[in-house]
Amino acid sequence: MQKKVTKAIFPVAGLGTRFLPATKSVPKEIMTLVDRPLVQYAIDEARAAGIKEFIFVTSRGKSALEDYFDCSPVLEEELRRRGKTDMLELLKQTDMESGAIAYIRQHKALGLGHAVWCARRLITNEPFAVILPDDVIAADVACLQQMVETYKKTGGNMVAVMEVPPEEISSYGVLDVQEDMGSIVSVKGMVEKPAKEDAPSNLAIIGRYILSTSIMCNLNKMNRGTGGEIQLTDAIAKDINDGSGVYGYRFRGQRFDCGSKAGFLKATVAFALARDDLKFELSKFLEEEIIKINHAAQ
Ligand code: UTP
Repeated sequence: MQKKVTKAIFPVAGLGTRFLPATKSVPKEIMTLVDRPLVQYAIDEARAAGIKEFIFVTSRGKSALEDYFDCSPVLEEELRRRGKTDMLELLKQTDMESGAIAYIRQHKALGLGHAVWCARRLITNEPFAVILPDDVIAADVACLQQMVETYKKTGGNMVAVMEVPPEEISSYGVLDVQEDMGSIVSVKGMVEKPAKEDAPSNLAIIGRYILSTSIMCNLNKMNRGTGGEIQLTDAIAKDINDGSGVYGYRFRGQRFDCGSKAGFLKATVAFALARDDLKFELSKFLEEEIIKINHAAQ
């Protein structure tokens, strides 16, 4: 019987350079898909998976993120005065139970592995999840919830994976597969951002993990890896060498890379088209724009 996964780390201390100049003053995770910030999608997914404690690894300039999960008495009072009960209801999504959310600073952006390590004192002897809010996953059953269900059977360490085309593989951590069992694959190695010709498979790790405390111990001893950063992938790969189980999980759902401009725009369109109040106006606009592009190309 595995211990329950009740804590999640949200590393949000990156510089977000691909969205400059916006991210000079707006944290990437506060940027909105339609009308909800990326971080709201991440929190909803964590809640659906049974997470009770939310640990954010932040950095300078991320105070908008802390304010987002704080109560806002003036705004709430004004909405109440105007009888805007529907909007008050919307704000409830941002309510966090007192003490359920913690913020830790990563003083230097030394990499994802380092960001996770910064939260080590809040993780005791229990498995924990890691969610990267810039990977947004649209799914009938929340991706982390699918993973938690599967983890109950496998234990060990689990990473969410998806198949990516060869020309994109060098942007990801990649699995060296031992046995492919369908939705689960067992792993005999991992490589961070390999060249296309060196990639051991087309299975790329995306931003959802369930990890054991041994990963924190591995991170204690980790040197800088690819890109001069302390890589989470290297710390997980070390667990494979030490004989612990590491599994890739092929999740059911559509993942949007909201850390890139194209991915962010695709997610915006997909989430807007899924909404009754927006889909007709937006789809009409998109059709007209595509006709214009096709005309211009002729
Ligand atoms: P990215 O690789 O997307 O980096 O990090 P970034 O800084 O956010 O964005 P770009 O590449 O400069 O545009 C993946 C996740 O890891 C976190 C980021 O905040 C993001 O959620 N991260 C990365 C940290 O928390 N600390 C780091 O040192 C690096």
